[in-house]
Amino acid sequence: MKQKDLFSPIQIGPYTLANRIFMPPLTRCRASSDHIPTPRMIPYYVQRVNAGLIITESTFVSPQGTGYPNAPGIYNEKQVQEWKNITDAVHKDGGHIFMNLWHVGRVSHPDYYEGKLPVAPSAIVSTDGMASTYEGRKPFVTPRALETSEIPGVVEQYRSAAENVLAAGFDGVEIHGANGFLPDQFLRDGSNKRTDQYGGSVENRVRFLLELTEAITSVMGGNRVGIRISPTGTYNSMSDTDPEATFTYLCKALNRFGLAYLHVIEAWGGDIRRGAKVMPLALLREAYKGMIVVNAGYDKDRGNKVIEDGLADAVAFGQLFIANPDLPARFKINAPLNEPDKETFYSGGDVGYLDYPTLEESNQRF
Ligand SMILES: Cc1cc2nc3c(=O)[nH]c(=O)nc-3n(C[C@H](O)[C@H](O)[C@H](O)COP(=O)(O)O)c2cc1C
Repeated sequence: MKQKDLFSPIQIGPYTLANRIFMPPLTRCRASSDHIPTPRMIPYYVQRVNAGLIITESTFVSPQGTGYPNAPGIYNEKQVQEWKNITDAVHKDGGHIFMNLWHVGRVSHPDYYEGKLPVAPSAIVSTDGMASTYEGRKPFVTPRALETSEIPGVVEQYRSAAENVLAAGFDGVEIHGANGFLPDQFLRDGSNKRTDQYGGSVENRVRFLLELTEAITSVMGGNRVGIRISPTGTYNSMSDTDPEATFTYLCKALNRFGLAYLHVIEAWGGDIRRGAKVMPLALLREAYKGMIVVNAGYDKDRGNKVIEDGLADAVAFGQLFIANPDLPARFKINAPLNEPDKETFYSGGDVGYLDYPTLEESNQRF
């Protein structure tokens, strides 16, 4: 039997995907100022339709979950309508698309809440970077700790967003449990000092994410739901005294949902510079029984290798997909890759968004 590689088809939940080259969530700040997807987002996603799976840019579940300018939401009619135009276009061209659901928690600013404080598991400020607002970068503020009685309401924000995701025609949902946003703030003991049933022990810290999973799977079944985690990520001031214990416990607890996949961001870039420990993928592989998508810093060869070694089932390529809309075609023939332009990651407009050339456009042999 042929060894599996990036080009082997893969079954993710109910979907047979053409390859294992996934597009991870990538915030591009091209939505309107009231978080409604704009028409230019349609060709952007369609250009990348040959990804085995497109996972959308992180998308706010509610006004309370908001915290970046011009990032989209999925909590009102208009947003659902505009996202539907995107999913229709992607499906028409044969693609598959999940939505990454986002609540930023403390990584926000009172500007987004008429002067009120952002919410978090505990009143602990992120000291890494600054808040992005419509008036530029501002220092983070110390958030307000959620009351225990408020937590079901936050879970409901996700459940209701999941209904909207279905109404907008998506194939599934990815819960953003990574990178220091709200669910991750609950998971790790550097940001969660609660003394109720949502803090303290590992069992308590994973409770919030499990409740979200329960709520979302009640809407669409487990096999259309993925979860993104970053066990040793340090972005947004994240830390945990025992990531192996926290995340192997979480993985085991997730097994019962029969999820579409677990999406693991390994330590990369700033994490490594800050001395983050790299958690062996084998540990998660052993604890989690379903499909694993891996990400961060991969190229074609390392991607093939991690699949060949049996440590992951698919690989997500972030910056490479920003710069190479036809990444799978380029990988296939070892074609040169366009370089991503960091200046235009979040700049708005078509430049650096819709104008990265495909191989054909570069007049190279396909
Ligand atoms: C411009 C940009 C925007 C990103 N936005 C998101 C996001 O919205 N949600 C998320 O979970 N990760 C986000 N990430 C992280 C990527 O999904 C990915 O984890 C990271 O780029 C590392 O993978 P790579 O080395 O293949 O680029 C973003 C990264 C970049 C460069």
